Amino acid sequence: MGASGNLTRTKLAPALFSLYHKGRLPEHLHIVGVARDNLDDQQFRDQLRGSIPEATDQEWDEFATRLTYATVDVTSADDLWALYRRLDEFDPDENGKLNCLYYLALAPSLYEPTISALSAAGMADDRQGWRRIVIEKPFGSDLNSAQRLNRHVHDVFREEQVYRIDHYLGKETVQNLLVFRFANSIFEPIWNRNYIDQVQITVAEDVLVGERGEYYDRSGVLKDMFQNHLLQLLALITMDPPYAFAADALRNEKVKALSAVRRLSLRDVRDNLVIGQYDGYHYEPGVAPGSHTPTYAALRLYVDNWRWHGVPFYLRSGKGLSRKTTEMVIQFRSPPHMLFPVPDDTVIPGNTLSICVQPNEGIRLEFQSKVPDEDLGMKPVSLEFHYHDGFAGIDLPDAYERLLLDALEGDAALFTRSDEIELAWSIIDPIVHGLDLPGAPAPFRYLPGMDGPPNGEELLLSDNRRWIPGC
Ligand code: BG6
Repeated sequence: MGASGNLTRTKLAPALFSLYHKGRLPEHLHIVGVARDNLDDQQFRDQLRGSIPEATDQEWDEFATRLTYATVDVTSADDLWALYRRLDEFDPDENGKLNCLYYLALAPSLYEPTISALSAAGMADDRQGWRRIVIEKPFGSDLNSAQRLNRHVHDVFREEQVYRIDHYLGKETVQNLLVFRFANSIFEPIWNRNYIDQVQITVAEDVLVGERGEYYDRSGVLKDMFQNHLLQLLALITMDPPYAFAADALRNEKVKALSAVRRLSLRDVRDNLVIGQYDGYHYEPGVAPGSHTPTYAALRLYVDNWRWHGVPFYLRSGKGLSRKTTEMVIQFRSPPHMLFPVPDDTVIPGNTLSICVQPNEGIRLEFQSKVPDEDLGMKPVSLEFHYHDGFAGIDLPDAYERLLLDALEGDAALFTRSDEIELAWSIIDPIVHGLDLPGAPAPFRYLPGMDGPPNGEELLLSDNRRWIPGC
């Protein structure tokens, strides 16, 4: 649903084609594009063809036989009922069941009316085959609206039928964080406050707001990136080991981690948050004149539990920055005692572990080494793993491939549960409200192509720390 939109063209169709090409789609899978535009099947296929340039004509023609189109107002139960009847034409699975996955690639304002219409058309009833619904972000625009949406969803679908997307969870390198932590035994014993001094998470983008000004101006970086992607990364770094890689086991641990994140009081916001706005943001189409919407934020958080007490987590994200990079840096403590002859005030930095999510996917561990032929001189060197070396010849799939396949297979491990979403909003809401208070700081300006506003650095300097370049 939302088949003529941008997400379908740029992400969903290429991911489905790639899965098809790799032979991973179920044999009888049909894809019905649904939108209000008046198109026939061929026009719909032609619309998507351009977004999959890598397909040969023959490959495309084969794939296109799986694609049909229906002109439907998704908020109308009558339209959906007519669509539902059409689905009966398709082949059932080997058990004689017709299973349906509804993908809402829609404007968020359409989620509730669409879910009501699905219910009225009887499309959530899973007695004749499974029925699942995929809901894109943003899931709500604050805690209240997310709770309301969850209630609405649960009036119609059971939680296990619901797949809320955060595409960061589908990224290979984000999944690898779990493998790295829990399929190796040497990191988990030191993954705590006794050994870790601080953690930094950076999701930097060089792109500007572009054509999304109207949506972005109502959201800003805190709702657009922190509430979902950055807090998910934080949860994966801080959670305890789940007993299995299973949806609820994993999500229960993330929920515990997010519950332990210290909520900032409105007054704390000033001391723990820096916001910025790139120069020229006001001229973006759809942006309100004089808007104070932040396009950059740096935030200090604490996780108040036994494992992380006192360890600061510095999170930052922004648009219009010098480069696109997503990285997590774990800074370990300095050695407790220095036995090598170094000048009195020298502090030997602790080891640094950098997990590079994109674009230089890999992991780097920095440690001190003796400089050869120099008494006891020391220098940081690194052990590095790069995907392009370790897994040469294997292209990293787009996150949507993994997520679409998981939703088709009924594996919700990499989707967010209702309580996770609400916890994440409960962390972000007071921060956003703090910015609305009289006297709240206006965002600092920065030039596109810089590393954000200069005071993004000051947040860390006040703790005698700096941003550590990771990848
Ligand atoms: C989206 C945000 O969720 O993530 C966008 O709405 C952002 O503003 C995008 O650009 C970043 O995703 P990625 O995969 O390019 O890092």
